[in-house]
Amino acid sequence: MEVTASAPAKVILFGEHFVVYGKPAIVMAINKRVYVKAKPRNDRKIYINSLNLNASGFFENGKFTPETGGSKAKAKLEPVKAVVEKIFQLVEGKSGLEIEIDSKIPVAAGLGSSAAVAAATAKAISALFGVEIEKDEIFKIAYEAEKLVHGTPSGIDPAIATYGGTIIFQKNMGIKPFTVKCEIPLVIGDTGLKRSTGELVAKVRMNKEKYPSIMNPIIEAGGEIVERARKALEKGELEVLGELMNITHSLLSAVGVSHELLDKLVAAARRAGAYGAKLTGAGGGGCMIALANREMLERVASAIRDAGGTAFIAEKSNEGVRIESKH
Ligand code: MEV
Repeated sequence: MEVTASAPAKVILFGEHFVVYGKPAIVMAINKRVYVKAKPRNDRKIYINSLNLNASGFFENGKFTPETGGSKAKAKLEPVKAVVEKIFQLVEGKSGLEIEIDSKIPVAAGLGSSAAVAAATAKAISALFGVEIEKDEIFKIAYEAEKLVHGTPSGIDPAIATYGGTIIFQKNMGIKPFTVKCEIPLVIGDTGLKRSTGELVAKVRMNKEKYPSIMNPIIEAGGEIVERARKALEKGELEVLGELMNITHSLLSAVGVSHELLDKLVAAARRAGAYGAKLTGAGGGGCMIALANREMLERVASAIRDAGGTAFIAEKSNEGVRIESKH
């Protein structure tokens, strides 16, 4: 038997960074997915091949032997192996496995690819054993795997990879799904610049400590935007959402997490006719999003490319982790 499962990537529409200070954030799954194909092997080895991370190798009796990717391969593949072990415990079974990971999501761009890999792996391996595990269980497993990759993640990425759709996340309140009926046509632009989420979060904290009376109202405004954006999403007011994205980008810039190239891509998208554009995720590089009328998407994408980024068109995906094929 061979099973392929998939899980979606995500974008933060509103609330990044302010979420660290207790404000809500709105996160949406997009129709770019990670695919994990799994089949049993005749021996006891767990072979994992990540096409996008350029890492592959064999786990056997606690030992790892790389095939490609050299000494760095183990750390990249370990979270996947952890998901496999967890599923073995759950289904009370064990087998040699052949796992292939193929991502349509740019990796390390803040779009949640590692959480999507974890969720899709859990779904594929459990299905291989003929067991259907609850989504809540998949979320927990993917969250544990995320801790190996990111230290202390918020849980946003594994939640959206598992459940899909749109969620509101708030510290100490957790994850609340909410229904957005309208389509959210986006262009996602990638600066290609690597950044450290931890350093950017620390930079905001530093600015807040240095200028509390200036920074605190900005954080408050960031929270207010999320409340307003939620209503606009429910009513399908794309123009309002675009304006709120523009304001958010300026606030994120004010707290210190934009970047020259992000500003350039955001400006190019607006000039090309987007309703609005902002950085998404940690900033300092990474990705931006532009909201646009469906007819304008290609134009906005090519403006982002002309300004020095890579770009792809995406929209909301209501489906979380799922089986693609089983034969
Ligand atoms: C990064 O994707 C989102 C941040 O708000 C950090 C976090 O919430 O953990 C910048």
